[in-house]
Order: sequence, then C-alpha cells, then structure tokens
Amino acid sequence: MDRRQFTGSVAGAFVGAVVSRSPIAPFTASSMRHGGLDANRLNANIKALSAFGANPQGGVSRVAYSDFDRAGRAYVTDLMRAAGLDARVDFAGNIFGRRAGTDAALKPIVFGSHVDSVPDGGNFDGTVGSLSAIEVAQSLAEGRVRTRHPIEVVVWANEEGGLYGSRSVSGQLKAPELDNRTWSGTTVAEGMTFLGGAPSRIDEVRRQHGDIAAYIELHIEQGGTLERDAINIGVVEGIVGIRRWDVTVTGMQNHAGTTPMDQRHDAMLAAARFVDMVNRVVRAEPGRQVGTVGRLEAFPGAPNVIPGRVVCTLELRDVDASKTQRIFDAIAGEAKHVGEANGTTFDFKASHEDAPALSDPAIRAIIDDAAKELKLTTRHMPSGAGHDAQAMAQLGPMGMIFVPSIGGISHSPKEFSTASDIERGARVLMGAVLRADTLA
Ligand code: HGY
Ligand code: MN
Ligand code: MN
Repeated sequence: MDRRQFTGSVAGAFVGAVVSRSPIAPFTASSMRHGGLDANRLNANIKALSAFGANPQGGVSRVAYSDFDRAGRAYVTDLMRAAGLDARVDFAGNIFGRRAGTDAALKPIVFGSHVDSVPDGGNFDGTVGSLSAIEVAQSLAEGRVRTRHPIEVVVWANEEGGLYGSRSVSGQLKAPELDNRTWSGTTVAEGMTFLGGAPSRIDEVRRQHGDIAAYIELHIEQGGTLERDAINIGVVEGIVGIRRWDVTVTGMQNHAGTTPMDQRHDAMLAAARFVDMVNRVVRAEPGRQVGTVGRLEAFPGAPNVIPGRVVCTLELRDVDASKTQRIFDAIAGEAKHVGEANGTTFDFKASHEDAPALSDPAIRAIIDDAAKELKLTTRHMPSGAGHDAQAMAQLGPMGMIFVPSIGGISHSPKEFSTASDIERGARVLMGAVLRADTLA
C-alpha cells in the first residue's frame, strides 16, 4: 500500500480496526516461531492510531500530553485489553500491559515503544513498535502460547520530549525535569497527571538493574540504509547519546535605521555565525557524530529593531560521550570568539541528556536468529535516533529491531514504512520474544 492509499483510508481503518477483531486460529508454539500473527490487523491498527492527531500534510501531531496523545493512549490501552493484557497506567503516565508467565519467579520480558510524536511528525515512529508489541501479545494469547517469563507490553510516555517515561522507570529522570515545559504547553509533571500519572509518586515507578529479563523494541530505522541496500532487518548495536543546550546570545537592541553597521552588537548576526560554526566544528572530525540547531528565535523580533537577544537550541549526538563533550567544548570556545568579534556574548544552559547505550550481544543474536529463521536479511548497525531502549539498557539486556524507512525520511509527514516491512518486523519481534523466553 503506498503513502496516498495509507493516508486516504485512515478513518475507514479506524472503524475496521475497532470492529474486526476476528479471533485467529490457534497456533502451536512452533508455528508461532514462524511468525504466526495477524499482519492485517496490525497494519489496520497502525492506520487507526494515525487518526489521532492526523494533520493535513498526511502525518501526525500527537505531541506528548496533548488531547490527541491522551486519546491515542486510550485507544492503545483498549487494544492491550483486547489482547488479554492487564493494562494499567503508572505514575509517570506509561501504559504497561502485563501477562503472567508459567514461572512467577522469573523477571518480565518487556517490549514496546511510544505513540507520542514530534510536532508535524510521521505515522510510524514509535507506532510500529507499540502496536506490533500488542499484536505479538494478542497472537500469543490467541495461539494459547504461555511464556515462562511474565511479559510486559509497554507504551512509554513522552519519548520525543526526552524519554521522560522510560527514564522515570530507569531512575535517570532528575526531579527538576518535572518542571520542564513541553510542546503541549504543560510542564512534564502536569502532563504526567493529564495522562493519569502522579508525579509526586514518580519514585515508585523506578526499577533496579536486574528487574527485567530483557527489553526488546521494534522501531523504524529513521534513516535510509536498510532501504538503500535492500536489507530487511536492522539489528541495533548501540544507540547514540543525546545532549541538548539552550543557548542565549546577548547583544544590544537598537534602532535598525540610525545605528551604523560598524557600531552594532547584533545578536542575530552572532547567532547566524554560530549556526555555521556548529556545522563546521561537528564535521571537522571523522565519525557519525551530528550537531543541530533546531530552533532559533530573535527578540524583540521586529523588522526595524536590531535583535538584542537570540535564544536557540544546540543538540549533539554520538555513541561516544567523551567525543560529544570534546565537540561541545570546541563549540563553546569558538562561540566566545564569535561574540568578541561583534560585542555579543554566548550563554549555554544544559537542558537534556540521554546517555548512549549498547545493545546486549545475546539479544542481538536472538534477533538475528529470529530474522534468519524467517529467511530475512539482516544488518548490524548503530542508531542515530534516540529511543526508550537506551533508558531500559540501564535495567537489563536490551535489543532493538529496525525496519526500513522509505527514503530514510522521519520526523516528517513524509515518513513511511510499507505494510510488508512492518509485518516482517513484527514477526521478528515475536520470534525474538519467544527466544528470549528460553534464556535464563
Ligand atoms: O529524537 C530522537 O532521536 C527520537 O526520535 N526521539
Ligand atoms: Mn521513536
Ligand atoms: Mn522520534
């Protein structure tokens, strides 16, 4: 199904997905191993979820803690319950759907993703992993396959803003972050409450290392490697660390008509030089590091006033935290010189940090085996995008499965993955969960 057909049938699919939950024939564990799941139901549910916050460009604006986010989360909670999971919202606003295993002494296998989006985002980032996890749980139940380990399907809260839900569980969230303002206009604490959480009890959602048997997340690649090289499945080796700063450039507000060009302390000019310098410094050394100035605003923002202040964001990513620090130090040093050139100053305030995380070799191996058993091609690769999996790596063995993003586009209404690629990813997820169940 191409992108046009996809967006055209969202409303119809919504009705279809809610109504048509035809039970599928029972499967044996071995046929499950060959990926017995209802791919049509899965793709219909993905289309239906895209109705929540659908934007005119064909994508979705379901930012965390918005009305669309809360409605979409209610929808996926219903799907969890239809899958026979005991679905509840934790104090951080995460949704956990639990099912007991045959051995209550074992720690849970956790799998899932997120359903919140960036503003004007796409229909597949997070959605594919969340709904595939529910489909795997439902197909196991319909196939009367009971795992040894308990299973927990999770839909995280506010992944896009900075892994707030998963970092609450991993213990990495710092209390002052609850006051951070989010794209929905609320603070994180207000947003957690809006989703049914209770930020005052956030410490109670925290888990310790060893509290999970494994965490596995299916996600779109959000890059173009798999499609370009016609590889079915990405086996993620590691996830980049992400660091963000709020940058304030201070100059001198003045009259745009009467202030000679050589007597200005123009904060916008300094900011423009800063953006160019960031690009140059980040590209100055070999590697896959990336640096982005994603937002910039000049004050007071009138055409006849020389900006006295500019606020912007700086984001740096790499799998090596020491390299990120080194690049930041170089940028901050050069910013000082940029300011000296026109009498402006730069201030950097750290606003967010996600530590880099390596996946677990045993989980990588079971993902690879699950794909190979389905005769799929695989590639081991890093993730340039951040994921809740990097928080969950603090608690136990983590692994991620990638499926191709068409054109490598993501965080855009043009984001697209085919129904058959999604089906392949979901079947690998099921195979990986069943193999993880055979580990200790
Ligand atoms: O920003 C990211 O890398 C992720 O999509 N949240
Ligand atoms: Mn994502
Ligand atoms: Mn994203």
